[in-house]
Amino acid sequence: MFTKQTIRDVSLKGKTVLLRADYNVPLSSDGTITDDYRIKQSLPTVQYILSKGAKLIICSHLGRPAGPNDLANSLFPVAKRLQQLLGSDVGFATNCIGEPATKAAKSLKAGQVLLLENLRFHPEEEANDVAFAKQLASLADVFVQDGFGVVHRAHASTSAITKFLPSVAGLLLETEVDTITKVMLQPERPLMAIVGGAKIADKIDVLHRFIEIADFVAVGGAMANTFLAAKGINIGGSLFDKHDLPVARDIMRKAALEAKKRPFVFAIPHDGVVASKIDPAAETRIVDWSAHVIADIENYPRRAPVSARQLHGHELILDIGPFSGSFIAGGIQLANTVIWNGTMGVTETNSLRGPVGPFAHGTELIVDALLGEFGHKPFTVVGGGDTVGFVESKGLVKAFGHVSTGGGASLELMGGRSLPGVEALLTKK
Ligand code: 3PG
Repeated sequence: MFTKQTIRDVSLKGKTVLLRADYNVPLSSDGTITDDYRIKQSLPTVQYILSKGAKLIICSHLGRPAGPNDLANSLFPVAKRLQQLLGSDVGFATNCIGEPATKAAKSLKAGQVLLLENLRFHPEEEANDVAFAKQLASLADVFVQDGFGVVHRAHASTSAITKFLPSVAGLLLETEVDTITKVMLQPERPLMAIVGGAKIADKIDVLHRFIEIADFVAVGGAMANTFLAAKGINIGGSLFDKHDLPVARDIMRKAALEAKKRPFVFAIPHDGVVASKIDPAAETRIVDWSAHVIADIENYPRRAPVSARQLHGHELILDIGPFSGSFIAGGIQLANTVIWNGTMGVTETNSLRGPVGPFAHGTELIVDALLGEFGHKPFTVVGGGDTVGFVESKGLVKAFGHVSTGGGASLELMGGRSLPGVEALLTKK
């Protein structure tokens, strides 16, 4: 399925290899790496290259630096973390080109590793500048692309550089592209897609694609608010994308047509957890705007008050409700493959008591279902920064079929777009 040459297809012995990784990791204000998943996932490629007796130079970007010496975005903490994970020295060059890089590269011996400072300290990186790419390329004999998270960008270190060096894929890039392409093209059916997160705008292509290929598409998170608003449901003061109301209507129309053609379900939330602010101490309640189950049960034998079915003007929907969560969990019991991108609520808000945040119950319920807590465990591909962060914070990465290191890149690949950083690599013979 993966049509590009990889590090297994070329001889690396005695060569200097330039490896493009995606070490764009979150850092706290004191420079501590708060999530090293991307670094850990690069280790098989790093170790493979070293085992072949090559000298290894690694380059990456970090964040979106304001200028050349924006040291809050320095990759130095990554060099330290990589050194810990590898258990051997990792050198660091304070500039990815020029004397600091060439000098450090020259003194490198077989089996040694050098990390270059942030590529984006040079605006030429994002401009896909050929002269800058040539300077980078002059450090090595072979180029290896393994930064899956950044291959949707045509930058100097993903595109122009391949004009100057034989360029092949690393093991992580191969696994990511292969796994994601397979679940999109030949999934073990039924295929379910669970899409959450903040904005529809980032996920329009992928939603269209899922409606075409999946058997069940469930939408949650803040982006579900735009669908609810488009259906005329009162969402109080909840965040939504006004400009995307027509897009949401379009997607729902397409989904309704698809459901006429074949067994297909497109689900938006029937109920939600609401509060007047995003605050761990805020009081929460369930509003049951279309299932009318919880509201009726809770109020029986009285008629449910309007407020049980409608948000007050100032209230915000911050998670899917228990009916919607159970509905999605039920779908998961029938699915053999699930693609999950985006949390169902504001999972970042910690709880004042207990392990589950006040707006994380919907996402927790889905994680339980995906991990087989209710009997059936489908093969699940997890993508998207916030989703991966959530899964990581629970220590559950290994429990899923595949947890992608790419946010934008995985969405573009799932949406059917070509990835410039992959296209530019040598094709398999
Ligand atoms: C990511 O985190 O999605 C990648 O590292 C790409 O970063 P970018 O969106 O700043 O290009």
